[in-house]
Order: sequence, then structure tokens, then C-alpha cells
Amino acid sequence: MSVELAVVPVAGQGTRMLPLTRGIPKEMLPVADKPVVQYVAEELERAGIRHMLLVTAAGKSAIEDHFENRDALTQKLSVSGNTELLNGRRTCGNLTCSAVRQPQPLGLGQAILCSRAVVDGRSFVVALGDSILGCRGQGRVVERLIEVFEREVADVVIAFENVSADQVHRYGIADVGRAAEDYFELAGIVEKPHRDHAPSQYAVAARYVFRPGIFDHLAQTTAGAGAEIQLTDAIARWTDQGGRVLGVLTADDEQRYDIGGMDSYFRAFVDFVMDHPQHGREFVAYLRGSQAVRS
Ligand code: G1P
Repeated sequence: MSVELAVVPVAGQGTRMLPLTRGIPKEMLPVADKPVVQYVAEELERAGIRHMLLVTAAGKSAIEDHFENRDALTQKLSVSGNTELLNGRRTCGNLTCSAVRQPQPLGLGQAILCSRAVVDGRSFVVALGDSILGCRGQGRVVERLIEVFEREVADVVIAFENVSADQVHRYGIADVGRAAEDYFELAGIVEKPHRDHAPSQYAVAARYVFRPGIFDHLAQTTAGAGAEIQLTDAIARWTDQGGRVLGVLTADDEQRYDIGGMDSYFRAFVDFVMDHPQHGREFVAYLRGSQAVRS
């Protein structure tokens, strides 16, 4: 059966985005005309996902509100313009939504572990709720991850983006093994290595597919980088024990916009407005004019 469930962690504190995130979750920040998490939901729906499970935390109820039906007026004003009702839930096309809580901020791995009971033995996608893949969220990497996952009978498939050497300390980095046409095997993976010790420049790009066996590895994983339970460490454990862990590269037009940092957020906002079907042309003309005024 195809993968139809996605776990979307949205429990991060957004400390790199203060003061913007003092009262608004980073996943609800507007990027052009939609909040971040709406792009993620639409990307997942296009990849054939039918149910999105948010892993939330205290202070982040605006995200659940966004996907919850409230009244007819709210529906009319909805940002996506294509919401519909299903069992009292606001949906995005065919996507339904529910939520679990991460009681304490103990890391991405621990957030995923909080979803175990709801995932209930199924294979599932993980899509980080603060990252948009491709301009206006048009990336199709999740579809390719699922395709490779099923064809290659993998345990884990991960999206990777090629980053510069001075960026590797921010990400999970692949130790690359045998390469095939549209994927490569992982010999290992390490979270946030120093650039002198990074096994490659392939960085985990916020999208994964897992067999439910990942939960056993997460349950055995102790605190790692940043004193948090790291998803990367659980994947490394499974790789060491013979798990079939594969990587798929993002395409040139699937750049990752990380809405956990100001620079990338600003770039996303400007790129997405410039590419907007209704407002883009006028905005580009405005930018050209204002640059001329300043230079
Ligand atoms: C997390 C993961 C890391 C990954 C990154 C972007 O890090 O732990 O492996 O490369 O997301 O997908 P964070 O940004 O939460 O520090």
C-alpha cells in the first residue's frame, strides 16, 4: 500500500526568529500570501499524502486553528482558497489533519517518537514544518522519495541537498555509499559535524520516508548534538545495524527555504512574491524602481 500518512513536526521554539516568533509560531509566518505550513500541506497533498499528523507544543495552537474548521466565514476567508469540510476538520484538498503534543522540547527525534501511537505500524513521511522545498513550494521530492522507498524496499529514504562546506555544521550529513541511477546508499549519517570531519556536503533536506521500525531505534537513542534526541542518530543506528537507508538528491528547482532563520525567510518572501501569478510582475517592477532610487 502506498504511503498516505505524513508526520509534520512543528514543535520547535523558533528562537532564531525572535522577536517575530514571540507570539506567532514560525510555521505560521506569512511567505507572500500563505503561511509556511500551508505550503508544506499542499506539497504533501500533491505527493499523494491523505493524512497529516502535526507534532505541536505549547504556544503553537495557531497551527491547529489554521487547519480546523471554525465557521463558514472563516472558510470563505481561508488562505488556500481550496479548503473543504471533512468530519468537521478543515482540509487542504484531500488532506485531513490531526495533532499530538510534544510535552517537552527534547529534540526532533523525540518529537517523532511522540507520533508512534497514531502512526500505528504504518510507513510514513516526515516533513519538517518550517521548511519549504522549491519556490512557492513546487518541489516534488516527496513523490520521488516514496517511489524509491517502494521500488527499492528501503527502510528509510531521505532527501539531500548539496550545501557548501561552511554550511555542513548546521545539518545531518550523509556518508555516501554505492550510487544508483536515482538514489544512493548511505554508509552512515552524522548530525551537525565540524566541516573538517564531514563525510560529504550532502545535507538532510527536511523530508524523509520511514518504515515504522524507526521507532525502535528512536526509543534506544540517547541525547546527541545540542543535548537533544536526534532523528539522525536513530537513522545512523539503523544504518549500522544493516538497515537499507537511501538518499535522493533534490533538483536545482527544489531549493530548501528554511523558515527557522531570518536570511532564508527573507529570501523566501521575496522569491515567492516575485513568482506570484497575480502580483509578481508588478512587484519586480517595483523592486527595479526602488533599486534605481537607492543606487
Ligand atoms: C534538522 C535535522 C537535520 C536536518 C535539518 C534540515 O535540524 O536534525 O539533520 O539537516 O533539520 O532538514 P534543525 O534544523 O532542527 O537543527
